Amino acid sequence: MASSAATAHSGTGGMLEGQVALITGAGKGIGEAAARLLAAHGAAVVCADLDGTAAQMVAGAIQEAGGRAVPLAGDVTAPDFPERAVSEALRAFGGLHILVNNAGYTWDGVIHKITPEQWAAMLEVHCTAPFRMIQAAAVAMRDAAKMELERSGVAKPRCIINISSTTGTHGNAGQANYATAKAGVVGLTKSVAKEWGPFNVRCNAIAFGLIDTRLTRAKEGGESILVGGKEVKLGIPSADGYWSAVKSLIPLRRVGSADEAAGAILMLASPYSSYVTGQVLEVNGGSFM
Ligand SMILES: NC(=O)c1ccc[n+]([C@@H]2O[C@H](COP(=O)([O-])OP(=O)(O)OC[C@H]3O[C@@H](n4cnc5c(N)ncnc54)[C@H](O)[C@@H]3O)[C@@H](O)[C@H]2O)c1
Repeated sequence: MASSAATAHSGTGGMLEGQVALITGAGKGIGEAAARLLAAHGAAVVCADLDGTAAQMVAGAIQEAGGRAVPLAGDVTAPDFPERAVSEALRAFGGLHILVNNAGYTWDGVIHKITPEQWAAMLEVHCTAPFRMIQAAAVAMRDAAKMELERSGVAKPRCIINISSTTGTHGNAGQANYATAKAGVVGLTKSVAKEWGPFNVRCNAIAFGLIDTRLTRAKEGGESILVGGKEVKLGIPSADGYWSAVKSLIPLRRVGSADEAAGAILMLASPYSSYVTGQVLEVNGGSFM
């Protein structure tokens, strides 16, 4: 679990007070840190994850810190998941204002060896699932805002944050499937920003560089994810050597933490970003300037 300044809940009066956030992949890593941070700033959070136990632990920790959260177990690629997740936000907290499409994993391979299954899995989890989440959220975000506008001329702030990667914006050897999917989410982001901007629904993407989670630690550490009955090994082979090489190319000379990644999510969700939409924020220690 992320140890975070965010565990200190701010109680009432946080800048996200009155807002409901739905975060996919909130059981670990960046999603967990984001759930804790957004809750610490007053949002009520639906912590969704494939790993129901992890989702439960994160939601429980938020509640213990005085925040509002509920867990939701499920696979974002399951046909019924998006409707279920949005319904849970409405049932538990009566609305949906912040959707963070974060759930995902890597299934690396060189181009000449990537299998059709490996290719399809990355597009499914990183592109199709976020699209279907946004589609399911239309009623609670776009349609709700449209009604507010018709009633009072003002729509509450709402936003969607799609998690991309510098692999999507710049490419990466060994990750053609992941790169294609993470680039796709950028097109999705800009399209949503254009379609739903008139309803005060902002949509931005964050392209993370190297963030310290199990996705970027040594593959030899043995971390894996079980998706659709298949075990996929996570991490970068001999990541220590890899990291020391790439660190020298990062202007800040270090990888980012999950808490720092969550900070960028909070920034885009916050009222201070109320005029920011359709953007891809690169959070990568200054790489690729
Ligand atoms: N760590 C990095 O350096 C990095 C860089 C760029 C982008 N990203 C992206 O950030 C996001 C979060 O990754 P992370 O590094 O925190 O990894 P992580 O493995 O620590 O956390 C990902 C979480 O998503 C959940 N998840 C995975 N597939 C799911 C599915 N099908 N349905 C529901 N939940 C699912 C996992 O159970 C896990 O709790 C991913 O989209 C990843 O591609 C990470």
